[in-house]
Amino acid sequence: MTDTSLSRPSTAPTSLSYADIQSIVADDFEIMDKQVFGSLNSKVQLVMSVSQHVINAGGKRMRPLITLLCARMLNDAPSKEAMHLAAITEMLHTATLVHDDVIDESGQRRGKPTANATWDNATAVLVGDYLIARAFNLLVGFQSLPLLQLFSDGTCDIAEGEVLQLQHQHNPSATEADYLAIIDGKTSRLFMMATQGAAILQNKTEHLQALADFGQHFGNAFQIIDDVLDYSGDSEVMGKNLGDDLAEGKPTLPTIQALALLKDNDKAGFDKLRIAVQTGKTDNAEALIALVRESGALEYCRKRALEETALAQQALETLPDNRYRQGLYQLTELASARLV
Ligand code: IPE
Ligand code: IPE
Ligand code: MG
Ligand code: MG
Repeated sequence: MTDTSLSRPSTAPTSLSYADIQSIVADDFEIMDKQVFGSLNSKVQLVMSVSQHVINAGGKRMRPLITLLCARMLNDAPSKEAMHLAAITEMLHTATLVHDDVIDESGQRRGKPTANATWDNATAVLVGDYLIARAFNLLVGFQSLPLLQLFSDGTCDIAEGEVLQLQHQHNPSATEADYLAIIDGKTSRLFMMATQGAAILQNKTEHLQALADFGQHFGNAFQIIDDVLDYSGDSEVMGKNLGDDLAEGKPTLPTIQALALLKDNDKAGFDKLRIAVQTGKTDNAEALIALVRESGALEYCRKRALEETALAQQALETLPDNRYRQGLYQLTELASARLV
């Protein structure tokens, strides 16, 4: 059983907003943010327009924030390299979103029309490819084989996670283990790259395992909650269309758990939801969403997200105890409370 009863570190403040956490590394964050834009230098105007469209739309810049906090936690001095690596992490994240929106046929991202909706699928796929290639182009500049190894292994895992997800589309028999394998690749791996990359840069490889555990569990919690919000969130607040997962027949944890619960209690509901996943036909989307909500599945998902959050927080305990570590702790709290 996972221990979710971990106490808050005695030094941790009661609560911080996302802006408060950003302000812990305010100068680094500002430089990183400029680098995200500045690193785009394609000679092809369409590549620039599409990349800028997505990057200008905003986004929380959470993965680079994690890199900056980790780097400072391990060595509290301004590090140009850490800011640069943080910007590269965001570039890779942006590429995965551009690709994800093609696969998910999503129309809205960061409150703006997606690249695939504004241009077309082919353009979005190719510009996503460009962003990944450019990220590696910049990574080579570090002349660090361990860093390249981390990012190349990780990028393979991300792609594999997306392919696994595709394989399970319309599979109503997908299990929680299948789901965890998917999110471990498509989401948590990038969180791990964001944390471990900082340790490699700072030459603190003794902390690689703790940072891997932190990144993985935080990533899992973040994706589970994102998947809950697809059933219970507010599209305006999230800046993307919700309810898409069911319409695409994606067996995310809310559906997997709802099917498990309905199987014994509501055979008719079970059959309806199973067919919806199989076919992706959601003429009665509202009724199906209500079925998932009322099944108790979302409560289970929130419990699982809290367990993952507790494991992420536990991983922080062996790392240097300073305000940067507290920032990371608070970030997991915010994410699990659905505030970021
Ligand atoms: C969206 O990530 C993709 C998921 C892993 C759920 P974010 O919610 O961090 O997206 P942005 O960067 O803020 O737009
Ligand atoms: C996360 O999956 C996307 C990536 C990790 C690339 P989702 O499909 O759930 O993300 P959203 O909901 O579109 O942001
Ligand atoms: Mg998506
Ligand atoms: Mg989602």
